[in-house]
Amino acid sequence: MLINNLALQHGFRTYNTILSDAKAFLALLQEEQVFQEPCLDRIAEIESEVEQTGTYWQSFDELAYGAKLAWRNSTRCVGRSYWNSLEVRDRRSLNQAEEIFEALVEHLRLCTNGGRIKSLATVFAPQEPGKPGIRIWNDQLIRYAGYRQPDGSVVGDPKYVEFTELVQRMGWKGGEGTPFDILPIVIQMPNQRPKLFELPRDAVLEVPIQHPDYSWFAELGLKWHALPAICNMMLEIGGVQYTAAPFSGWYMGTEIAARNFADENRYNLLPVVAKRMGLDTRYDHSLWRDRAIVELNVAVLYSFRRAGVTMVDHHSETRRFVQFEKSEALAGRTTYADWGWIVPPISGSTTPVFHRNYENVELKPNFFSQPDPWRQFASHKKSDCPFGH
Ligand code: ARG
Repeated sequence: MLINNLALQHGFRTYNTILSDAKAFLALLQEEQVFQEPCLDRIAEIESEVEQTGTYWQSFDELAYGAKLAWRNSTRCVGRSYWNSLEVRDRRSLNQAEEIFEALVEHLRLCTNGGRIKSLATVFAPQEPGKPGIRIWNDQLIRYAGYRQPDGSVVGDPKYVEFTELVQRMGWKGGEGTPFDILPIVIQMPNQRPKLFELPRDAVLEVPIQHPDYSWFAELGLKWHALPAICNMMLEIGGVQYTAAPFSGWYMGTEIAARNFADENRYNLLPVVAKRMGLDTRYDHSLWRDRAIVELNVAVLYSFRRAGVTMVDHHSETRRFVQFEKSEALAGRTTYADWGWIVPPISGSTTPVFHRNYENVELKPNFFSQPDPWRQFASHKKSDCPFGH
């Protein structure tokens, strides 16, 4: 029973599951003609490796194509038309938190590429049978702290209040207390204590936000980071689980302007923008929120373009998505999608995806969510902090 629980907790799966997933993956590679040679030998090789070790080591080509497929199969992502241009860095040999951190910094620099953002995934060692995997505790490599004030309000990103308090208990001295302090990175190697690392300033590109017509907009002092870099998802390829495989690309404007800046439980800027625009915020029917959210989106797209940082708008990107569906159909594949995630959070019906139906089917390889390793500690008091600080 105990063994079973541990096994479940650490994602330990039977040889049969791994083998059948591996076979399905190799068949898929065959079907898509990724390799020239038939893969019968490879199956035999994997079989004996799984028998001896409980898992197997993928070739670079398997890993790289598998990561591309994981992106192609991500039903919540509207940007999947670029799946085949994903660059994959193999960092499976690293086994120290310090080395992983260096690789993350390198990832940020390579992906940012001076503003001409590339799609990039860095893959660390997979989870071994019966052991926890490598985990990056942050949900994204670049995120802003949220500081709870005595009056209950928050300076920064309210979404990260818990995480900010956690890293403070772990010894983070905190940033300057601005609304845009970059959180430190927390890396946990299997069966070790998590370690904190501070990102070098020059590895993080940020864009100050201004508006093409409203000069007062810059006075709001807003900015956002150029890269969305998700680092808490598990990349699963052919039965192998990569618990640390950060990936990043470029933003669609609405992610920042219509959600991060606009959501009431994030930066909640619509009332602020509406007031500066001189709108009547007393009545819902004046549509002050709608008018403010459009101008916020105009500002974000304009600012990224001016700064020479890659960003897409929701009209071109959803049109490109429909193109992607067509090219997938030509290749004999159905495009599965999560409608509620594909349709942009503003102007839905003005985009083609709004008028289409999608079936949401989960294929593998894919990126999966995994439980936050730190949730269990999040409510601890400083006195019983598990990290000995
Ligand atoms: N929506 C998330 C954010 O605002 C990022 C999700 C990934 N987005 C992307 N364009 N790859 O940070």
